[in-house]
Amino acid sequence: MMRMMIGTSLFFTAALCSSLVFGLPTSEHVVHEKRDGIPEHWTKISEASDDTPIDLRFALKQRNLERAQEYMREVSHPESENFGRFWTPQEVISTFAPSEEALSDTVQWLLQMGVASKRIAPSAGRNWVKVKSTVAEAEKLLDTTYSVYQDDEGTILVACESYAIPAGIRQHIDFVSPTIQFDPRMGTITKRNAKREAMRPKFKTVNIDSEPLELDSCSQLTTPACLRAIYGIPEEGEAVEGNSYGIVEFAPQSYNQVDLNGFFSVYTSNVPNDTAPIVNGIDGGYLSDDTGSGTRGESNLDLCYAMALVHPQNVTLYQVGDATFSNPATNNNLLDAIDGSYCTFEGGDNPDWDGIYPHDASVPGAYTGEPMCGTYNATNVISVSYGRNEIDRPPSYTTRECMEYMKLGLMGVTLMFSSGDTGVSGISGRCVKDNGAPTPVGSSYGKFNPLFPASCPWITSVGGSALPVNGSVGDREVVAYQFSPGGGFSNLFPLPDYQAAAIASYYSEHDPGYNSSRYKNSQAVRGFPDVAVASQDFITGIDGGFQAFTGTSAAAPTFGAMITLINGERIKAGKGPVGFLNEVLYAHPEIFNDIIEGHQSGCGTEGFHAVEGWDPASGLGAPSYGILKAVLMSLP
Ligand SMILES: *[C@@H]1O[C@H](CO)[C@@H](O)[C@H](O)[C@H]1NC(C)=O
Ligand SMILES: *[C@@H]1O[C@H](CO)[C@@H](O)[C@H](O)[C@H]1NC(C)=O
Ligand SMILES: *[C@@H]1O[C@H](CO)[C@@H](O)[C@H](O)[C@H]1NC(C)=O
Ligand SMILES: *[C@@H]1O[C@H](CO)[C@@H](O)[C@H](O)[C@H]1NC(C)=O
Ligand SMILES: *[C@@H]1O[C@H](CO)[C@@H](O)[C@H](O)[C@H]1NC(C)=O
Repeated sequence: MMRMMIGTSLFFTAALCSSLVFGLPTSEHVVHEKRDGIPEHWTKISEASDDTPIDLRFALKQRNLERAQEYMREVSHPESENFGRFWTPQEVISTFAPSEEALSDTVQWLLQMGVASKRIAPSAGRNWVKVKSTVAEAEKLLDTTYSVYQDDEGTILVACESYAIPAGIRQHIDFVSPTIQFDPRMGTITKRNAKREAMRPKFKTVNIDSEPLELDSCSQLTTPACLRAIYGIPEEGEAVEGNSYGIVEFAPQSYNQVDLNGFFSVYTSNVPNDTAPIVNGIDGGYLSDDTGSGTRGESNLDLCYAMALVHPQNVTLYQVGDATFSNPATNNNLLDAIDGSYCTFEGGDNPDWDGIYPHDASVPGAYTGEPMCGTYNATNVISVSYGRNEIDRPPSYTTRECMEYMKLGLMGVTLMFSSGDTGVSGISGRCVKDNGAPTPVGSSYGKFNPLFPASCPWITSVGGSALPVNGSVGDREVVAYQFSPGGGFSNLFPLPDYQAAAIASYYSEHDPGYNSSRYKNSQAVRGFPDVAVASQDFITGIDGGFQAFTGTSAAAPTFGAMITLINGERIKAGKGPVGFLNEVLYAHPEIFNDIIEGHQSGCGTEGFHAVEGWDPASGLGAPSYGILKAVLMSLP
């Protein structure tokens, strides 16, 4: 993909000129975003002093997002004559960039409110307007009051609980930050950052006498050979240029080559010693020597299986984040680096959650370079085994991120995200109280807490399956039972067309057994996951030995490997990569071995049960590689 840069100053000049033509947007302030009380663990400690500096960012509304579904269908529905005719970054920008009017009206209003033009900076992609401001000025602009809040761990935050924008400007603005977002600043290093809750696979240590396991133990321990046998994945691949398989890791997770070598030597017959991924470090992305499954586990797991399954195809590791900044639940710095259409003039999109670079050089391990913007090409398939709760960020932010995945899909990238490891509850088993606050870790009450990006309609959400207890290769898989695979219904994203028939049939034939006090049962929202793939006891090289990892972290790289292999076949046949997959998957349920046994758990319930057809415990089921390949090869 080509990156595209637009001169910032050019747009700014244009904005100022055209603004002289428009009338001044003078109108009453209208409340734009409001929270219902402050989150648990936070306390208001004082008013914010007038001269506190604030970098305000106005997220301008993009155009044509309401047509996302139609655009996506056009390039990814199997019946569409334009299947596979993906968009260029230029087409993405020209279709979705906010209107010139949105920019000029916003800038005009700011000038009118007395903000000096040298403090106003629009972004290259026309998506943001940044204002170097103070609390006093921001309070006037947004008709609000900023306060200082502190959480249990001593993190200090300047925020407000609601804010308003003039009626004449509102239609142009998605959201403004910092305002109602309660989350510690990522620019500073806080205790909270280090222990941020994230999706992590469970693991157990296994003592293996360095012999490859027989296929008859695949229900106890999973190896690449087991996955090949269960799904029919071929071993003899071919390296196809331009088809490297993308795996994303966030600091402090880091793979270890010696561990990979140990794994390749025992559990593969074809991957040579010292085979390494192509490392694309993003914003200081680095490889560490830290030991232990907490640091190496996720990365080693993802790479052992991605590399074993697609070899000799290359694997590209997008290693995100420097040694001072770790926010595994933020994907915007990644998006900036692989998608030039997404970048802002100053790195990540939101200083509340994204890395803002350069970092302070006095901090050891800090990335002091410029933020990466369109630095790397996106690979055809990208698998990410990290996530957060859908509710963790305001809807405006989460929706915007989901729409960026949609744009990558339009450009031909297939995105896999694990569906989560805590069933219908959120990360760490938290559910949601009636007032919207999270319940304690592992609680047995509350509303279901769907995960994101798993709940975004424009990615493929990969849940967890397993062979039955004591079962054999060839047995029908069941819902993973050593943990509870994530799945359910979004509180945010409407039902996409591709899933409408599957959801209608699910509800018409089954009663999930919960009412609206537990989850959004409107039958008009996105359900996830889309598919389920093996997820238990994946033998992984670690700290010089082996451990078995369990979770959907194992499933997403496995399914992504299948699509990478098939893309390779398509490219050899003179076709392109498949891009966004879900339109094809739901149109061809015969690709899947339906999973009809097992259920999830969470929030004191049995979660959802697997049933015939799509369900939130196992999606469409487990893929058969042969049929998946036949279907995808038959497409133009
Ligand atoms: C795989 O990556 C290596 C190292 O970047 C490169 O030299 C080689 O050409 C790549 N192979 C293919 C088939 O793209
Ligand atoms: C693999 O390569 C590493 C370093 O290149 C070497 O130390 C190790 O002995 C090799 N392992 C095997 C099994 O050949
Ligand atoms: C990205 O892909 C384009 C088109 O294939 C190529 O010209 C360009 O060199 C690539 N950029 C990088 C950073 O690999
Ligand atoms: C699985 O096998 C073990 C060991 O043979 C046995 O103890 C256990 O009861 C079996 N479980 C099931 C569900 O068949
Ligand atoms: C949902 O069901 C529970 C009992 O399972 C009941 O107490 C509650 O009133 C119901 N709520 C709604 C909104 O129907």
